[in-house]
Amino acid sequence: MYRIAPSILSANFARLGEEITQVLDSGADIIHFDVMDNHYVPNLTIGPLVCEAIRPLTQAMIDVHLMVEPVDRIIPDFAKAGANIISFHPEASRHIDRTIGLIKEQGCKAGLVFNPATPLSYLDHVLDKLDLILIMSVNPGFGGQTFIPEALNKLRLTRERITASSRDILLEIDGGVKVDNIAEIARAGADTFVAGSAIYGAGKESDPHRYDSIIAAM
Ligand code: DX5
Ligand code: ZN
Repeated sequence: MYRIAPSILSANFARLGEEITQVLDSGADIIHFDVMDNHYVPNLTIGPLVCEAIRPLTQAMIDVHLMVEPVDRIIPDFAKAGANIISFHPEASRHIDRTIGLIKEQGCKAGLVFNPATPLSYLDHVLDKLDLILIMSVNPGFGGQTFIPEALNKLRLTRERITASSRDILLEIDGGVKVDNIAEIARAGADTFVAGSAIYGAGKESDPHRYDSIIAAM
């Protein structure tokens, strides 16, 4: 099963609720929520207050991608704010296994995120505890960047590891996903596709159905 996860990083923040409702009505499955701290990555975005504000809008999963260092202390706040999945970068945690445990103790699904140059060996001793693996196909920090093709190889290797584990782990791709490369990305093994600028950059603001065709094409 394939899932589309619009990244609200590229939404119009002045009309955020409406923009979330519209992508879900157009067939999106998950809301991808990018949290940046101007420390781990050179950009600053949104936190638990915004997650709490959008939670009543939908039953869809809110997939919180933490680009935050240190990561542990913000996890309970996102769990309370209604996050369903919380993912973090191994470089941003001193104790990766402990951070995974903390996410699960808070009742959320746990994801580990791999930057373009982060080795998959971080999976070696924790794969069995993960619910999601997120492969970054851009360096984190900004929407609208170009897909790094090496991510395809990384997806294939990750898919092999998930298959060997026989566990139900989502394999998510994030960065530069567009209508014209999503099929190739799916063939490499991804099942969950984050798309920011491809979705929110499409169509005219005044058209309530402007996301329908782009999400259907993905
Ligand atoms: C980048 C973020 C992405 C970003 C993707 O650090 O993690 O989720 O919003 O944006 P696009 O789809 O425009 O590359
Ligand atoms: Zn993201």
